[in-house]
Amino acid sequence: MASPWFDRPLEGRLVLVTGGARRIGRHIALHLSKLGARVLIHYWTSAEEARQTAAECNAAGLYQANLERVADIREMFGRIERDFGSLYGLVNNAGRFGTADPLELTEADWDAIHDVNLKAVFFCCQHAARLMKRAGEGRIVNISSLGGLQAWPRHVHYCASKAGVIMLTRALAKAFAPEITVNSVAPGVISFGELDEIGERLVRRTPAGRAGTAEEVADAVAYFLTASNYITGQVLAVDGGLSLR
Ligand SMILES: NC(=O)c1ccc[n+]([C@@H]2O[C@H](COP(=O)([O-])OP(=O)(O)OC[C@H]3O[C@@H](n4cnc5c(N)ncnc54)[C@H](OP(=O)(O)O)[C@@H]3O)[C@@H](O)[C@H]2O)c1
Repeated sequence: MASPWFDRPLEGRLVLVTGGARRIGRHIALHLSKLGARVLIHYWTSAEEARQTAAECNAAGLYQANLERVADIREMFGRIERDFGSLYGLVNNAGRFGTADPLELTEADWDAIHDVNLKAVFFCCQHAARLMKRAGEGRIVNISSLGGLQAWPRHVHYCASKAGVIMLTRALAKAFAPEITVNSVAPGVISFGELDEIGERLVRRTPAGRAGTAEEVADAVAYFLTASNYITGQVLAVDGGLSLR
């Protein structure tokens, strides 16, 4: 007979998912809630979708914040502290993608990507870790990307930001040990229907012969959230083997 822990290993655990309203973040929130987590949904512009996802996963809280602004991040974690006193898990999922000729790329293009993909990830980790340290344990999962492992010439700023997430994950894993683990999931091509030409080309080169699903990313996130503190600083590519050389 399966134990309750086996079915719901995150029972009662409070986990914040950034960018949790739609797409991959939404599926992570729904999956974690099925595993028993008390999910907190962060969103920025997708208020209606956030309410919908929150209702579907019986979320414990809904937080709006522009993660480009460290003041907004501080305010969000301040509210979480007032509402709950602590936090078990953080999934840094919110992100931006961009395409640009590197000879034409502007400072604004660079900042738009890095402010959300890298700076916000660091400051969310910092604020979450302060709450987790107080509770004596915590689990952080940063969503990076295949673009942080491979060099894509039309997405240089995106690749740099996601490679930054991977090194930030490793450095923080050392800094926050032993109570808190910090790991990363690096999705490959995740499909929500139609893929663009670049996506189709990448799928043709994928050993698994298909695009991935948001559920497969969510599964990997759940693994790190439920693993012991002996697994930290790791990057798990969920990419059908596309990063293999
Ligand atoms: N989709 C893929 O194939 C793929 C592949 C590799 C890696 N990834 C990574 O996986 C994660 C999720 O991917 P996705 O395709 O589901 O992402 P997405 O839809 O492009 O973005 C996820 C969420 O990020 C939030 N966000 C963007 N800018 C923000 C800001 N300034 N402040 C707060 N939130 C902000 C948005 O929230 P609101 O909608 O509420 O504004 C958005 O819903 C991202 O980190 C992405 O880089 C995705």
